[in-house]
Amino acid sequence: MGLAFAVPAAIYLCFPPRSRKTPDWVQAGDLTQLDLGQPQQLTFRRTGTDGWKIAAEKATAWCVKTSDRDVIAFSPWCTHLGCAYHWDEQKKQFLCPCHGSVFGIDGKVLAGPAPRSLDRYEVKLENNAVWLGPVRGPGGTAL
Ligand code: FES
Repeated sequence: MGLAFAVPAAIYLCFPPRSRKTPDWVQAGDLTQLDLGQPQQLTFRRTGTDGWKIAAEKATAWCVKTSDRDVIAFSPWCTHLGCAYHWDEQKKQFLCPCHGSVFGIDGKVLAGPAPRSLDRYEVKLENNAVWLGPVRGPGGTAL
């Protein structure tokens, strides 16, 4: 009977579950599919671990191609209380419908209660592939 409890406990202690973590980098899109200066929402799948469970989840990023070799990728969540915002093509601004925050194409707050600019993914380009890393908040801290 004691062995029935001791073996799982020993396995747990020797191989603790991994903390919830998303992978560092994921291929999210193709640079040639982005239009210069035109925000586009990219949808991709991330695989993360939660304990011993590995789960794939849908993720998005608002991407702005600023040159042939540069892309900015914003987290899709408003920095006020985390609602999803969208790009308004006529106003040329990101608008959050929840409490009215407004962000410029560079992610800076133009109006509303949002306390800071939009958070950004780390971005790297390999040939034409757009790779997104962790989301960085104020001061470059990982979120
Ligand atoms: S969550 Fe966006 S303005 Fe409040």
